[in-house]
Amino acid sequence: MDMPKCRICETTYEAFMSFGNMPIANGFLKSEDFGNEYVYELKVGFCPRCAMVQILEQPERERMFHENYAYFSSISTRMAAHFQNFANMIMRQYLGEANPFVVEIGSNDGIMLRHFADAGIRHLGVDPSANVAQAAREKGIETLCGFFDEKLAEDIKAEYGRADVILAANVMCHIPYLHSVAAGVATLLNTKGVLVFEDPYLGDIIEKTSYDQIYDEHAFYFSLASIEYLFSEHGMEVVDIMPQNVHGGSMRYVIARKGVRPVSPAVAAQNSKEKALGLKSRATFDLFRKNVEHSRTELVNILESLRQQGKRVVGYGATSKSTTVTNYCGITQALVEFISDTTPTKQGKYSPGVHIPVRDYRKFYENHPDVALLFAWNHAEEIMAKEEKFRQSGGKWLTYVPRVEVID
Ligand code: SAH
Ligand code: TYD
Repeated sequence: MDMPKCRICETTYEAFMSFGNMPIANGFLKSEDFGNEYVYELKVGFCPRCAMVQILEQPERERMFHENYAYFSSISTRMAAHFQNFANMIMRQYLGEANPFVVEIGSNDGIMLRHFADAGIRHLGVDPSANVAQAAREKGIETLCGFFDEKLAEDIKAEYGRADVILAANVMCHIPYLHSVAAGVATLLNTKGVLVFEDPYLGDIIEKTSYDQIYDEHAFYFSLASIEYLFSEHGMEVVDIMPQNVHGGSMRYVIARKGVRPVSPAVAAQNSKEKALGLKSRATFDLFRKNVEHSRTELVNILESLRQQGKRVVGYGATSKSTTVTNYCGITQALVEFISDTTPTKQGKYSPGVHIPVRDYRKFYENHPDVALLFAWNHAEEIMAKEEKFRQSGGKWLTYVPRVEVID
């Protein structure tokens, strides 16, 4: 097979690990569709030149983002608060001009843009998944249903003029044609404008062995090093960087045209941290692979032993991340009876690949299991607080990030 080429700098590189065949991570399905499930091999690699970590094969974008997209951002109250703070920070620090214009890429159901809409600020959301885009429109948020790229950025500029701020959360890492996105940002932003975006951070994934962040929608796993490389190709630079305590550890980057804004000392500090973490070294990823394999063995051992003891185990949170874990570890209904979830469009369906039924979260309350495997570990605080009764009645949480353990 030909060696793959890095999507950012075109250097040939190789995979450092394969998770085997995978279905679409958000592809919750009905039993009649079991026979038509799409699969591809999930492999991840590291580019030795620009340091970008990326999956080698990504299913076509229309298989993932469409009118039945399963993820509605507003399911989490903690994330809603996070995006309110994000919006407030932008309004305070970056919206100086008269009649400013804010664009958000991947605006989903409007979890962040609603704060700009409520404040009467000119705004435009861009999202290709028609159902979530419609949910945003119903809240009065102007939303364009489409894939952001250079062409779309030109169309937006022609119709609305340049943007003062472009925002993006948990979407840049989804887009394989990132050069087109970066070129679009450079076209659409006004001279002093900023792009502020955040995504799960590679450093956290490595440190916490949170390998379930690796799935089809996540084409890339960013570090400061790889982001600096990408934007330098488009005359832009990272002027600030701020770690975020969401989604298991994210990083927020502020990008501006080169030389127009002062660069915060936080950027150099993060570069030093990345050196210490070895994010530019292949050996780091080989060690990560070993840690992932170890995590799989431990999780399967615990689940098998619970089954032998006759304990009832259910999954909590039908996350896209769980698709990597269940399929890579071979966790089927024999080990996890069902997955409880609050999202109506997932309930009554089956999880991708391993086909564990997804049930209304009320089933969890009605009939508490012995153990809940916390697939939504990134929402652990919110969930454990909400489910205090489960723990009080003797229920145990089982997690696998940052290590496999039963929480007493
Ligand atoms: N920003 C939200 C949603 C993240 S999910 C949050 O953080 O909760 C990713 C979203 O990006 C989905 O709604 C998906 O439809 C959208 N998306 C995927 N590719 C895109 C593209 N090229 N341009 C704009 N949005 C995109
Ligand atoms: P999340 O971890 O945010 O994302 P991803 O799909 O990107 O891995 O998904 C949260 C899932 O967990 C979502 O399907 C809803 C569910 N959930 C609950 O069932 N209860 C809760 O209290 C929360 C916060 C989430």
